Amino acid sequence: MKISIVGTGYVGLVSGTCFADVGITVTCVDIDEKKIENLKKGVIPIYEPGLETMVHSNIEKGRLFFSTSLKDSLEQADVIFIAVGTPPDEDGSADLKYVLEVARQIGKHINHYMVIVTKSTVPIGTAKKVKAAITDEIEKRGIEVDFDVASNPEFLKEGNAIQDFLKPDRIVVGTESEKAQKMMNRLYKPFLLNGHPIIFMDIPSAEMTKYAANSMLATKISFMNDMANLCEIVGADITSVRKGIGSDARIGNKFIYAGAGYGGSCFPKDVKAVIKTADLNGYKLRLLEAVEEVNNHQKHVLVSKIKEQFGTNLNNMIFALWGLSFKPKTDDMREAPALVVIEELIKLGAKVKAYDPVAMEEAKRILGDKIEYGADPYDVLIDADALIVITEWSEFRIPNFKVIEKLLKNKVIFDGRNIYEPAEVLENGFSYYSIGRAAMHP
Ligand code: UDX
Repeated sequence: MKISIVGTGYVGLVSGTCFADVGITVTCVDIDEKKIENLKKGVIPIYEPGLETMVHSNIEKGRLFFSTSLKDSLEQADVIFIAVGTPPDEDGSADLKYVLEVARQIGKHINHYMVIVTKSTVPIGTAKKVKAAITDEIEKRGIEVDFDVASNPEFLKEGNAIQDFLKPDRIVVGTESEKAQKMMNRLYKPFLLNGHPIIFMDIPSAEMTKYAANSMLATKISFMNDMANLCEIVGADITSVRKGIGSDARIGNKFIYAGAGYGGSCFPKDVKAVIKTADLNGYKLRLLEAVEEVNNHQKHVLVSKIKEQFGTNLNNMIFALWGLSFKPKTDDMREAPALVVIEELIKLGAKVKAYDPVAMEEAKRILGDKIEYGADPYDVLIDADALIVITEWSEFRIPNFKVIEKLLKNKVIFDGRNIYEPAEVLENGFSYYSIGRAAMHP
């Protein structure tokens, strides 16, 4: 089988590499010449554990190719995945210009049957628009070519994307023909060894599934964050409440960790997009609007705690920040809570010194010299007034509290991810602010 993947962003590159890894011949296509040149040499533009090694090995085995020519990649392809970006418009809806441009290009060059699959997260109805754009171009050429469209949303998590692709919980595919269904079934067969299903459905339902999945997950987080804030007020501990509710199989213990708010490239964008879709169709998604509002509020909760401890004038104070990425195992800072905290602290007159195991380069690109950067977690504590933990990287979990105590001016820790045992922090003489637990002082 031969496939092409258009768009070498996160989803495209991971999907293409994993398909190649099970023996499928894959060409990844992008209009960015520099990116393609680098990829041919095995230089990858994103941080994802395991990806670089896998790209190298599949290039060497001669089944992973990179090209700037969509036309050439169509020559022998059975399936084309469209995995280009769908950035949010000013009004929050997904901008389809890249997806539809790829569709037009396919229509201009297609000369045998293939299945054209949308893999980017796209609004309901996009596959239909893709089909229309391709048909339009084929008609202009005055020829007849049979093709099918399908929708195959991606559920990859950054930092765990390879495992998620190789061992998916499920594959969702929206199709409108048996021929396309057979082709997609064959393509995904190597990934369905662990008994997890491939679920076929109509195309709008597949498109909707992606939005519903991300919206449900975002809802779980905002629900827990809202509960956490109430826990603080009434003297309960959200970590106990989480265990208490999570052991009910109907609720489940995953994805119910209170924190400093969700970020990343998917949840904020998709929640906005689905609210917009509803809006355009005359329906108000009250629950998701609240999910978004709770999340925006949650990103400010750490700063409220800082004000509670130090007041609102933070002039000349220095805060040490552990973590910059929106979650561990990624250098992605899109919509990261750290950005909100940094901005607010600076507004209040403070300085920020930050350390992140992998996101420092990305932070420098976004923030420049607005903040200082440290060489390691302890380096940023020198002369700092307090420590703020915002991303739960493993290396922050068992710190040397004695060294922290020596370096910090004030013995205060703000923990935005509840990674410490309050008793241990208090024993070491620190004041401890966390999420969903009242402030604690030694
Ligand atoms: C998400 C979806 O999980 C994935 O299926 C989809 O394809 C893309 O969007 P990702 O953005 O990589 O993946 O991150 P994820 O691991 O889901 O975390 C999202 C955010 O939620 C992070 O900011 C994380 O810190 C936060 N989170 C997650 C919590 O605050 N609490 C939790 O219990 C879980």
